[in-house]
Amino acid sequence: MQTRVLTGITTTGTPHLGNYVGAIRPAIAASRRPDVDAFFFMADYHALIKSDDPGRIERSRLEIAATWLAAGLDPDKVTFYQQSDIPEIPELTWFLTCVTAKGLLNRAHAYKAAVDKNAGTGEDPDAGITAGLYMYPVLMAADILAFDAQQVPVGRDQVQHLEMARDIAQRFNHIYGRDFFVLPEVVIEEQVATLPGLDGRKMSKSYDNTVPLFAGGARQLRDTVLRIVTDSRVPGEPKDPDSSALFTIFRAFASEAETTAFRHALEEGIGWGEAKQVLYERLEADIAPMRERYESLIARPAEIEAILREGARKARAIAAPKIAELRDAIGLRTLSSARSVAVGEPKQAKAARAPRFASFRDTDGSFRFRLFSSDGDELLLSKSFKNPKDAGAIQKRLKTLGGAEASLHSLPRSLVLELDGEPVATAPDYADERARDEAISYLRAALDLLAEQEKGD
Ligand code: TRP
Repeated sequence: MQTRVLTGITTTGTPHLGNYVGAIRPAIAASRRPDVDAFFFMADYHALIKSDDPGRIERSRLEIAATWLAAGLDPDKVTFYQQSDIPEIPELTWFLTCVTAKGLLNRAHAYKAAVDKNAGTGEDPDAGITAGLYMYPVLMAADILAFDAQQVPVGRDQVQHLEMARDIAQRFNHIYGRDFFVLPEVVIEEQVATLPGLDGRKMSKSYDNTVPLFAGGARQLRDTVLRIVTDSRVPGEPKDPDSSALFTIFRAFASEAETTAFRHALEEGIGWGEAKQVLYERLEADIAPMRERYESLIARPAEIEAILREGARKARAIAAPKIAELRDAIGLRTLSSARSVAVGEPKQAKAARAPRFASFRDTDGSFRFRLFSSDGDELLLSKSFKNPKDAGAIQKRLKTLGGAEASLHSLPRSLVLELDGEPVATAPDYADERARDEAISYLRAALDLLAEQEKGD
């Protein structure tokens, strides 16, 4: 079994060392493990919350996609996409919005910080705060829950958002009476979750204290490293590695042996200037080969685009049936399939009615069967069998299969059910992919009901 690991990066600004160490590098390392099914995406809808500058949004998406690819992301192994290419995400955002307590969002750190800032300046508490900022955690929950992500690697500042995603998922599951969503776990790389910036505070675009990853090349990297704030100890005076941003950044890139050596050098009084040169060289050794790949990618944006398109296709293959299932669960059903359900019918009563098979003889004399949902909708039509026993054997297997086990081959507007790699039944043609995806969820639910019933009998 693979673990689904998902993470997003907000596409504002230019990637810096903090992004690399805190998110990109550990995520890519994890994505290489055979037991991991990784989903990485550019959170460009989130970016709109932070920036209304179209040029910046556009540039940043390109830079960030190129950065992840240059840093070693393998798009054949990882599902790599842009959030804004997945219409199921905003759709799920709304479903989640409608179960999210407003009070939960009132407690979000980012929103509270903005309110506190207004209070500090005597402004109206909500001055300058968009509903987008307020809704940020719900959009993020949708990013995660649409794909049933099990683990989410993020920086420490995102832990609260993960807690909220779990809360929101639980609430939805509770209200609609089933475990629709996997509860995601937060993963923080223990050693270096956040990197200090030039001034020793957390490296962050908002503090303007970042060390760029690729921008400006080796020269800019070196110039920026030279600007890292140090204390005023002179060469020969012992330095305290543990209070030094320089050392913390070094450690995030170095082996244990290199780190120990650098620690000793500082304790023995290496000058800050020289220490910065050591840091720069250590960084450049890792960054130079990635920078080269980055520059060649940036020069060919069409190639990046093609990679992201393919990623969106893979991602939607998962999100679309999921959303179809949710639409059904919350009552946004096709009117033609309207269940004869009386308003307010209890959930148990619905479950008690069973899907059923109906066998019949075709005009050519062969034997076939149909599977109907508990509401009487035709879900499947079997292939032709020469004798009724074979048709019966397949029905019998379908009765215990269970929805999750069903191998469904989905074509744009139709659906094939396979057993042991052989097609045994097809579903009616659907008007569009959405109808088909909805049918998939009905079919799986019907097979679950059958299996449950078999067990009970
Ligand atoms: N909010 C995250 C950040 O700023 C980015 C993000 C958006 C994200 N959606 C996500 C991270 C989903 C993990 C999962 O870092």
